[in-house]
Amino acid sequence: MLRVEDLSISFGGLAALSELGFEVRDREIFALIGPNGAGKSTVFNLITGLYRPRAGRVTLDGEDLLALAPHEVARRGVARTFQNTEVFRQLTALDNVLIGRHAHLRAGVIRGALGLPAVRREEARARESARALLARFGLDGVAATEAGSLPLGAQKRLEIARALASEPRLLLLDEPAGGLNPTETQTLMAVIRRLRDESGLTIVVVEHDMELVMGISDRVAVLDHGRKIAEGKPREIVADAAVVEAYLGSEEDA
Ligand SMILES: Nc1ncnc2c1ncn2[C@@H]1O[C@H](COP(=O)(O)OP(=O)(O)OP(=O)(O)O)[C@@H](O)[C@H]1O
Ligand SMILES: [Mg+2]
Repeated sequence: MLRVEDLSISFGGLAALSELGFEVRDREIFALIGPNGAGKSTVFNLITGLYRPRAGRVTLDGEDLLALAPHEVARRGVARTFQNTEVFRQLTALDNVLIGRHAHLRAGVIRGALGLPAVRREEARARESARALLARFGLDGVAATEAGSLPLGAQKRLEIARALASEPRLLLLDEPAGGLNPTETQTLMAVIRRLRDESGLTIVVVEHDMELVMGISDRVAVLDHGRKIAEGKPREIVADAAVVEAYLGSEEDA
């Protein structure tokens, strides 16, 4: 479904990614791991059109994504969350999801301002599906609560719910378990599994929490200093000498 080939990008002369390649299959849960600064978030920023690479290709079902603007990538069915949770803190949980849905609504702002019946119907449908999404993430009780006042675990789930409101096929999750306690992480793992098993989503997850990575991924690719140093099933990855070295090395640096 997703194919990344020979992807390279530099910042101020420093290579953040060098000739990176990997493929993600339909309905796969694929993890990208690696030490801080390895280039994981940069991969997401390239796929979603926020960064432009120096070289390389990214295709979704054969279509070149690198020629597209971020909103066009979103329209192709790619949604993401960000490493630093970015819910709209002053808006309610429900409004956060409605904003995620917005990219999908056909009614424009002007038609909306005129209050046409077709627009109102579309709005009503959007609210209904937003409420259903919240319920799926155990957030139906806090639909009217300001997002900023929710516990971090709930904010993280809300961010995923917002990403799903655009009805993506491919979901990119950047450190969804960051800052979560073990119980919240377990809940999140179940949520991600269900997205694949029940909704048929393809998921790429960037994560430092190894329990989550090893617990839910079909395959794992390991980045270090912008290069792929290993790829395989979770149990192959934990036994890989280069991977162990990359992690121990980075701890010594720290
Ligand atoms: N917009 C940018 N401007 C300058 N440098 C950048 C930019 N984005 C990323 N980098 C650099 O590219 C490298 C890879 O960064 P990236 O954020 O992709 O790492 P990461 O693997 O996501 O790390 P972490 O686990 O800490 O989130 C780093 O050296 C980073 O400083
Ligand atoms: Mg990152």
